[in-house]
Amino acid sequence: MTKQTVLVLGASRGLGFALAEEWLRRGWSVIATARGKSDELAKLAGRFPGSLETETVDINDAEGVRALHDRLKNRCLDVLFVNAGIARAIEESPATASEDDFQDMMLTNAFSPVRAAEMLRDLVPASGTIAIMTSELGSIANANGGWQLYSSSKAALNMLMKGYAAKNAGDGHTLLLVAPGWVRTDMGGSDATLSIEESIPLVVDMISANHGKPGLRYVDRFNEELPW
Ligand SMILES: NC(=O)c1ccc[n+]([C@@H]2O[C@H](COP(=O)([O-])OP(=O)(O)OC[C@H]3O[C@@H](n4cnc5c(N)ncnc54)[C@H](OP(=O)(O)O)[C@@H]3O)[C@@H](O)[C@H]2O)c1
Repeated sequence: MTKQTVLVLGASRGLGFALAEEWLRRGWSVIATARGKSDELAKLAGRFPGSLETETVDINDAEGVRALHDRLKNRCLDVLFVNAGIARAIEESPATASEDDFQDMMLTNAFSPVRAAEMLRDLVPASGTIAIMTSELGSIANANGGWQLYSSSKAALNMLMKGYAAKNAGDGHTLLLVAPGWVRTDMGGSDATLSIEESIPLVVDMISANHGKPGLRYVDRFNEELPW
């Protein structure tokens, strides 16, 4: 049987690296991207010979994403997972934050992931899945003011994916906005409630559970729908 293939965009460290490693453990063929040379991914490739390919791309670089598409144009991606994201000015509000920090988050967390999905969607078969890492904090209904600017960028991501789903309903793809929980990574910090091991295997289980279910869902690692 041919191995299933996943492309993880933004896999140099943290949750993206863990996603690549988890799918490798499950016998998948993994294409993992970093913005530059990644010693960690090179080591991972050594542990799973022949199963991990690495690519270089910055999701904010449209030409770079187009070039990645061209390099992969004969490939079939069972799952496209856009994980890349940043958090800046987490304690700030519009009155105190730098405009650059907010614009950087809107670009990296909202605009670029959906642009990458649009540019790469033809590599995903009708039975395939496009997943993007959002956050529980992207829920407008549940907002409590925490990480206000970052939360706004994830809410914008969710809105952009609503539009994407409506415009591309004919693709038949499973579309998932994934909330992984609060996890101890460079971004999540040491106070976060979950280890990577407590989050990522459940995220991958959740992606499998949604296989073959077309349409857009905003879901946590337990496959529970979140309020928009
Ligand atoms: N940790 C949490 O508690 C938590 C909770 C909810 C959602 N999330 C989301 O989960 C995702 C991963 O978070 P994390 O905790 O693993 O963060 P992290 O440790 O800071 O890692 C972020 C990853 O995104 C990559 N990245 C950032 N900007 C990029 C760009 N322009 N192009 C390509 N890659 C880029 C980074 O690459 P470099 O190494 O090159 O910087 C790195 O691999 C993010 O979308 C985040 O918003 C995290």
